[in-house]
Amino acid sequence: MSITVLVGAQWGDEGKGKIIDYLAEKQDLVVRFQGGDNAGHTVINDKGVFKMHLVPSGIFNEHGACLIGTGTVINPDVLMAEMAEIEAGGVDVSRLYISGKAHILMPYHQELDALMEAAGGIGTTKRGIGVAYAFKMLRKNLRMEDLFDLEKANAKMESYLGVVNNMLAAYNAAPVDMAQVREKLSTWAAFFTPRIVEPISFVHKYINEDKNMLFEGQLAAMKDIDQGIYPYVTSSCPSAAYAAVSGGFPAKKIDKVIGVAKAFSSAVGDGPFPTEDPDNAQMAIIRGKGDKPDDEFGARTGRSRRLGWLDLPILRYTTMVNGFDEIALCKIDKLDKLESIKVCVAYELDGKRIIDLPSTDDLERVKPIYEELPGWNEPTGGIRKIADLPENAKAYIKFIEDYVGAPIKYVGVGPGREDLAVL
Ligand code: GDP
Ligand code: IMO
Ligand code: MG
Repeated sequence: MSITVLVGAQWGDEGKGKIIDYLAEKQDLVVRFQGGDNAGHTVINDKGVFKMHLVPSGIFNEHGACLIGTGTVINPDVLMAEMAEIEAGGVDVSRLYISGKAHILMPYHQELDALMEAAGGIGTTKRGIGVAYAFKMLRKNLRMEDLFDLEKANAKMESYLGVVNNMLAAYNAAPVDMAQVREKLSTWAAFFTPRIVEPISFVHKYINEDKNMLFEGQLAAMKDIDQGIYPYVTSSCPSAAYAAVSGGFPAKKIDKVIGVAKAFSSAVGDGPFPTEDPDNAQMAIIRGKGDKPDDEFGARTGRSRRLGWLDLPILRYTTMVNGFDEIALCKIDKLDKLESIKVCVAYELDGKRIIDLPSTDDLERVKPIYEELPGWNEPTGGIRKIADLPENAKAYIKFIEDYVGAPIKYVGVGPGREDLAVL
């Protein structure tokens, strides 16, 4: 039995979907452990190109099952549409299960998210994520298990609507139509109840039967509600330890934590981003025009991603927070044509050199201190072994490993499942 947790090591969109799809082959169960359909995990394999939002990226492994776990917030309409899309691509979704303790993200959560953003937000994905988690903490949400008893679910919902309608009224929006809610709940109950499981016994059965599990994180530690750049964060815990909380098993049972990083940096939404370099010509090449699946546009919102150089103080910080046993470094192929590559090794703040992250406000003010490493100027696309990478690419990898103190075991050399150099 082994429990592996895979999380983003920077600001999100590092290539988690691709690495999970690759690793899923050896897993009996893949569990999405937090977040909602704010995620956009790109998977490119023999079945096609998929942008995964709620369904775990392990669904393409025909020999394993998938669970949308307790720590998630689920927009059932989005999930139904996503399942239909994946099925249309010839993928069997009968092995997809849903934790009864996962929260239901309601249309009014999404409406309130959009209203709050319009009134001055932080650049959310407008999928209702923050509002759904806020109502979770207020104890005024339905969970997936509530769909087993519609009469009770409707009564609970009616008791929650006072607060919801007051919030909507504050933005001059219309109150929730309870008739519509009833209809939705009944549609969702008919569709989802066969897949809803009691999550503790479900996960522990895999533990007791000595099976392999992979816990899939969404976003990344820099956007963690506690450890990230608050308030420019998401409203859940994308850090590795939360896999145990969400999974309902002791944290000491985690065998391995894999951090997925990009060979440069990207972010969407507002907030500090010390190495952002929007005017750099190379960044424009990396971004592309949006016509290729690995161009730098958000897989969820289509927003053009903010781009910059690799930031090692950030990677060191997320390694400290998550305890990476291994790192997967994606998109190294995007650096193939560079003469030299800038890497941020420290910041300057008020005349002092620092490597520990300061407060969010101070992170806005730091100046990155760079070292420049030589490029390799040759294609890495077809390479499948890290040992066969160009010498300067290996030197770039070693520089990162030495700085953060974690080994790089996988190197992404293209967007597809097979485009991976391993040890
Ligand atoms: P996730 O949210 O972490 O799963 O990442 P996204 O799918 O949002 O963004 C990663 C992007 O990089 C996607 O367009 C992937 O297809 C692409 N990608 C992942 N790994 C590699 C790689 O090694 N090389 C290239 N060229 N593209 C990659
Ligand atoms: P994956 O899983 C990149 C960002 C938003 C915003 C902040 C809060 O594909 O890496 P939210 O809608 O969660 O309340 O927005 O988090 N964000 C992401 N950025 N990749 C994602 O997911 C993201 N999910 C949310 O842009 O800054
Ligand atoms: Mg993404």
